[in-house]
Amino acid sequence: MVDASKFAADRLVYFKASEIRELLKLTEGREIISLAGGLPDPRVFKKEMLAEISREVIIEQGERALQYSPTLGVTSFRKELMEFERRHGLAIRDTDDVIITVGSEESLYIITRALINPGDIVIVEEPTYLAAINVFRQYEAQMIGVPIDEYGMRTDILEEKLKQLKAEDKLPKLLYSVPTAQNPSGVTMSNDRRKHLVELASEYDFLIVEDDPYSFFLFEDVDFTFIKNYDKEGRVLYVSTLSKILSPGLRIGWTIGDKNLINLFELTKQAIDLHTPTLTQYIAERALQKGVVDITANEARNLYKIKRDVMLATLEEELSDYATWIKPIGGMFTMVVLKDETIDTKELLLKALDEGVAYVPGKSFYVSNKGKNTMRLNFSYPTPEQIEKGIRILSKVIRAHVKALAR
Ligand SMILES: Cc1ncc(COP(=O)(O)O)c(C=O)c1O
Repeated sequence: MVDASKFAADRLVYFKASEIRELLKLTEGREIISLAGGLPDPRVFKKEMLAEISREVIIEQGERALQYSPTLGVTSFRKELMEFERRHGLAIRDTDDVIITVGSEESLYIITRALINPGDIVIVEEPTYLAAINVFRQYEAQMIGVPIDEYGMRTDILEEKLKQLKAEDKLPKLLYSVPTAQNPSGVTMSNDRRKHLVELASEYDFLIVEDDPYSFFLFEDVDFTFIKNYDKEGRVLYVSTLSKILSPGLRIGWTIGDKNLINLFELTKQAIDLHTPTLTQYIAERALQKGVVDITANEARNLYKIKRDVMLATLEEELSDYATWIKPIGGMFTMVVLKDETIDTKELLLKALDEGVAYVPGKSFYVSNKGKNTMRLNFSYPTPEQIEKGIRILSKVIRAHVKALAR
């Protein structure tokens, strides 16, 4: 076997194997209720419709659908997608200002690769999406976390930090936010703060990435405005995906933004993979045209709302003395914060696994040393019965742990 570490590039030093993933591997083959994952419920996948569309695309448009295609994406799909976003309420200036990527994960990767030099400052919410942290880390960004509360990122604290940074002549280049039904916390940012964020970006001259996989299937009728819609200067890069509203396996994501920035991303993507698979773009285009995306999003909304409600009701019954959480208006997660700050949810995980339930300890979603007493719980994948049972087991484990600590 080759000693890979001898050959690995320096930047991979920043890329530790996930301890949690290793821990969760121990559960393979065992009967474990997993509240740890982040998968859509496969019941929302429209298999028959997608099978029919795939056949149609290959038979009727195979000459193009099986061919190489432009780096920015298949032109007709880009137009269809921008119309879809427009119907969804996103302010679109020019339907050309979009690049199709291999999932939104590749959008984050390309944005970072194109814009971030080692040492550049990237501001993130604390907690934030783990895979984004990993991308920023791989490109040696200096990440600064800004806490969130039930209304999203504390932009007042951000403003203070920006003043400090300016005094040190060190301004951020990028701010990354998941403003709607955030992964991992479930929090949605208020419109006031969204607006404030854009004002700060303008005043302190940085770009904002608005990562939005979840706003297509919110559970409540909420009045929210995309951060991008407040943007008059082209500072906001809006990133989204069909992963949760069609299928993650198709790997279709996109970035909408200022044409000059999209040009940089085109150059960057060219050197990575030339283009997103043509076939899945054609399939996605027809899925949009035939309303399959809307049907899937609706099903996700109905199904996940039921599951969220079961999770919240069971949490309320079992854990209100021991923990707090917010009520997510969408998405797939909530984050439980244990009131006893000395409890380390990583240690607790071993006990929970023994009892047959898994979750993700929250610390990995923080860039500072915080979050030890938090855990992320997923409600999209497990069944309502598993959610209820899983939370009851978790509650027993937490209560036993608190008792043991008190002894
Ligand atoms: C906030 C956030 N961004 C991006 C992604 C990645 O999605 P994709 O499948 O489009 O790469 C996810 C997936 O869970 C997510 O929660």
